[in-house]
Amino acid sequence: MGARSCLVVFLVSVLIIISLSSSVLGRQYKQLAAIHVTNSMPKGSGPMQISCKSSYTNYGMHQVDEGGEYQCGVQERAVYFCMALSGRQMASWHAFQPSRDGSRKAVYWLLKDDGIFLSWDNSTWVRKSVWESE
Ligand SMILES: *[C@@H]1O[C@H](CO)[C@@H](O)[C@H](O)[C@H]1NC(C)=O
Repeated sequence: MGARSCLVVFLVSVLIIISLSSSVLGRQYKQLAAIHVTNSMPKGSGPMQISCKSSYTNYGMHQVDEGGEYQCGVQERAVYFCMALSGRQMASWHAFQPSRDGSRKAVYWLLKDDGIFLSWDNSTWVRKSVWESE
């Protein structure tokens, strides 16, 4: 191999390594935190509909059974809204809020009869919102 083709092989390898590592870093950077939403409504409430979105990402509507959990990722440092429908009741809240949640890796939400509760450790809960009915 001549000096020139050696140089070409070297440069191509460097480019491949750079593009692989930046896509790996990019992916790590993309998931800032996880939003967990648990349906803890009383027995017999039936499944609920949950949808979460930010200005940039929309996760669409998902059905979550009694006792079930919905999970989605925080992709940008932006406010994420979630909305839940259970029977004739509706709730919407800030599921992720950079000024409140900082660099925490997980935000837990418990949807109970008496409100919408936030936790950062999945064990201590604070009520942040209530259901509205039409
Ligand atoms: C949160 O806690 C509940 C009750 O202990 C458990 O069932 C659930 O798996 C936990 N969720 C996560 C994401 O760890």
